[in-house]
Amino acid sequence: MISTSVAPESPLTDFFGPIRDDLAAAERIFHQELASDVPFIRELVGYLVHYRGKRLRPALLLLSARACGRVTPQHHVLAAVVEMIHTATLVHDDVLDEATMRRHVPTLHARWGNSASVLLGDLLFTHAFYLTSTTGSAEACRIIGEATNRVCGGELRQIGERGNLTLSEEVYHEIIRGKTAELTACCCRLGALFADAEPKLVQALERYGLELGIAFQIGDDLLDLVGTENRAGKSLGTDLEQRKLTLPVIRLLRTASAETSQQVRQLLMESGNHKRDRLLPYLEASDALGYAAREAEKHAAAARDCLAALPESPFKSLLAELTRRVVKRQA
Ligand code: IPE
Ligand code: IPE
Ligand code: MG
Ligand code: MG
Repeated sequence: MISTSVAPESPLTDFFGPIRDDLAAAERIFHQELASDVPFIRELVGYLVHYRGKRLRPALLLLSARACGRVTPQHHVLAAVVEMIHTATLVHDDVLDEATMRRHVPTLHARWGNSASVLLGDLLFTHAFYLTSTTGSAEACRIIGEATNRVCGGELRQIGERGNLTLSEEVYHEIIRGKTAELTACCCRLGALFADAEPKLVQALERYGLELGIAFQIGDDLLDLVGTENRAGKSLGTDLEQRKLTLPVIRLLRTASAETSQQVRQLLMESGNHKRDRLLPYLEASDALGYAAREAEKHAAAARDCLAALPESPFKSLLAELTRRVVKRQA
């Protein structure tokens, strides 16, 4: 039975306290942009009011801007844009993954089905591009366009590799870089660029966003295998159900004995649920979970190193703290 309760506030809401007003400004723009007179569109878009996540991407953009010295009205628009693109990818992703829960509430897919979800995702993308154009900056349009190309390319590449039980770590990294880290990198780059930061700082923050995004997605892939749905607020185990190989499983298959490896491959190819419970003993008997956690930590540390270029500020401290939180994710 799907509950219809409203999503609880994310623990990051307090954490992002120093940019609370900036996030609220971005959120107003997000909803103004999607306002519609059509009752059905209003119903779907209205659902998004309760469909609130951690706001990591707008926060990265705004924290990067503040860490470089200033936030402008263009930043608020761009912060709304990146959350809109992110939301579009999630609405589509839940169709692909046949997920029933997202952000502690039923997915749009569960409530309105495939067709409405696909088209709402499209609407979010097109509004995001239109909204970017209202900044009057061709550069913003180019950066947003380029990042979204890479995100969609990453998602598509992942679909292309579904069921490939010999997926390499290298290709896995390219996929997660595309589908997740290119957008977080774009957020940090835009934040710095529109604060008129020196090119050196823009580059450092873009690199920070890239490394953070990679660490974040490895953490998310661990969560999909060992997390708790109630805490995460979303359907888990879907990577296994969809036969999307992630780092712990790639590592397990590479390091296990021929016999174990064969058993795991067989399990992965079976249809139906409960694969998570049955895979867990294999993961726990190997170094696969620890290996993935260490890989996430490496990227988080690389992100932290990029911050050395920034002057000290409370915003820099929050960016540093985020690198610690992404590797300890429960949601
Ligand atoms: C979920 O992102 C998709 C991934 C890239 C793993 P978030 O975990 O940031 O989702 P919300 O926005 O908080 O719901
Ligand atoms: C896909 O990643 C989300 C995007 C980056 C587009 P996941 O499938 O791991 O995201 P969740 O776990 O459903 O949030
Ligand atoms: Mg998913
Ligand atoms: Mg996931």
